[in-house]
Amino acid sequence: MPPIIRMENLTKKFGNFIAVDHLNLEVEEGEILGLLGPNGAGKTTTILMIATVIRPTEGTAYVGGYDVRKNPDKVRELLGVAFQEPKMLWVSTPWDIVNWHAKVCGLPTEERKRRVKEIMEALDMWNFRHRSVHALSGGMRKRVEIAKVLIQRPKIAIVDEPTSQIDIVGKHKIWRMLRELCNQGTTIILATNELYEADVLSDRVAIMHRGKLLVCDTPKKLKDSIVGGDVVEIQFETDPSPKMVEALNQFKEVVKIMKTKSSTLRLYLNKVEEIVPKIMGMLMKEGASVSSIHMSEPSLDDVFAHYTGLTLEEAQKEGG
Ligand SMILES: Nc1ncnc2c1ncn2[C@@H]1O[C@H](COP(=O)(O)OP(=O)(O)O)[C@@H](O)[C@H]1O
Ligand SMILES: [Mg+2]
Repeated sequence: MPPIIRMENLTKKFGNFIAVDHLNLEVEEGEILGLLGPNGAGKTTTILMIATVIRPTEGTAYVGGYDVRKNPDKVRELLGVAFQEPKMLWVSTPWDIVNWHAKVCGLPTEERKRRVKEIMEALDMWNFRHRSVHALSGGMRKRVEIAKVLIQRPKIAIVDEPTSQIDIVGKHKIWRMLRELCNQGTTIILATNELYEADVLSDRVAIMHRGKLLVCDTPKKLKDSIVGGDVVEIQFETDPSPKMVEALNQFKEVVKIMKTKSSTLRLYLNKVEEIVPKIMGMLMKEGASVSSIHMSEPSLDDVFAHYTGLTLEEAQKEGG
């Protein structure tokens, strides 16, 4: 099957500043593609070009086979978008907005009433449905935006930081609902600067930094691809001898050893499942007294750091 979205050298300049820099990226039909990057990476600008809100400076994107430059109307028919900063200028209530949207989507009256209630309840906003949107918290406005997309069930949903300003319980609910939307046949692009959100929700993650695509693959492959990506911390009862450190260094899977706290070694290595039993065997044979071993999987943050030399948090400060 051809990709449902294809970006070809997609580029946006604001004056001399390149916000999105020759992006080549494909979205497969039926997947959730996470667009992960720190503030200022160019995620929203990319999304606004795909949603035909702004025009590319160079390059283009094909959505369902239609060129965003040449057939914006056709593109819009396929899309439902939850914007990062929803504009709700007119005086209205969440129920008005969601109900109006359901009408525009052509839902028949009975079904419309039922689904509007169902989705607003599931998003914990039913009790707020008659408040003025101006009086709503940022999180509640985000929910209105998400509700519209969930009601619409578009062919392609684009959600830009859907759960920022929403509490952890609400986040989990929205993640479940987005996954369900995908299971029912909607392709989803999820822009986020939250590692965990990208990791739990995405089938594939495209990592962006300073307008450029760094890498795109499944979360698992991204984590497995970084050399020395597994982390094992061994705490000894007394300082490990240089001989012991040297013996650990002999394992070819061990990429780097760092002494952290006193009597603690932090090992960056590959194939953690295979190597840790061997390391344990060696330590026992050498009579080392180990008080604890802690293993951790690499996160998407380690992947980001691998490509940029910065943690996502550091890059966030730079761009935000
Ligand atoms: N309308 C605009 N005019 C000038 N610069 C902009 C405009 N929109 C975005 N930018 C800049 O482009 C960069 C990328 O922004 P954005 O796409 O919003 O990033 P992200 O969504 O990844 O945080 C930022 O440096 C931002 O300041
Ligand atoms: Mg953004």
